[in-house]
Amino acid sequence: MISTPKQLVIVVLLAFAVPLTVILLVVQFITSGINADPDSSAMSEAAIAKRMQVLNADSSTQIANNQAIDSPAIAVDPGESLYNTVCQACHAAGIAGAPKTGDQSVWSARLDLGNNVLYQSVIKGKNLMPARGGATNASDDDIRAAVDFMLSTLQ
Ligand code: HEC
Repeated sequence: MISTPKQLVIVVLLAFAVPLTVILLVVQFITSGINADPDSSAMSEAAIAKRMQVLNADSSTQIANNQAIDSPAIAVDPGESLYNTVCQACHAAGIAGAPKTGDQSVWSARLDLGNNVLYQSVIKGKNLMPARGGATNASDDDIRAAVDFMLSTLQ
């Protein structure tokens, strides 16, 4: 095929020139999309401002939604949370002779004592139940709320 030095030179040059042209065309094709014309309508200041508005509106509705989701979590009954963290350790299963939560039959006689007596039993401790049910940092109000929550399970 290649019989003269001239033919050899042409083939060698083509071997470089053809791939180089292809590469240049590809690079040009890719970068043409990046250098968007700043005067085109999509990049105009009005169009950018409009897109920013949509983004801002989206994030503010999202914040509003998050607040709506968060507020019930803040409003969790303090009595219920104290019960769940401390009291249920004994009262859920009726450990050490603790009256079992929700068991009408073991509570009926205690209910006759009246809520104030029950509150005082917990605050001071009674037999195997330590003072404040062991929740030493809980206020009297917290204890009353936890008792109220326990008794609310009986209805
Ligand atoms: C270490 C186990 C234990 C924990 C924790 C505990 N209790 Fe008790 N609780 C008992 C036992 C045992 C009794 C039964 C006492 C008795 O009458 O002999 C009892 C009784 C009670 C009574 C009935 C009191 C009465 O006068 O009949 C109430 C109300 C009560 N607990 C509420 C609570 C609350 C509220 C908490 C959490 C703040 C709590 N308990 C945590 C063991 C526990």
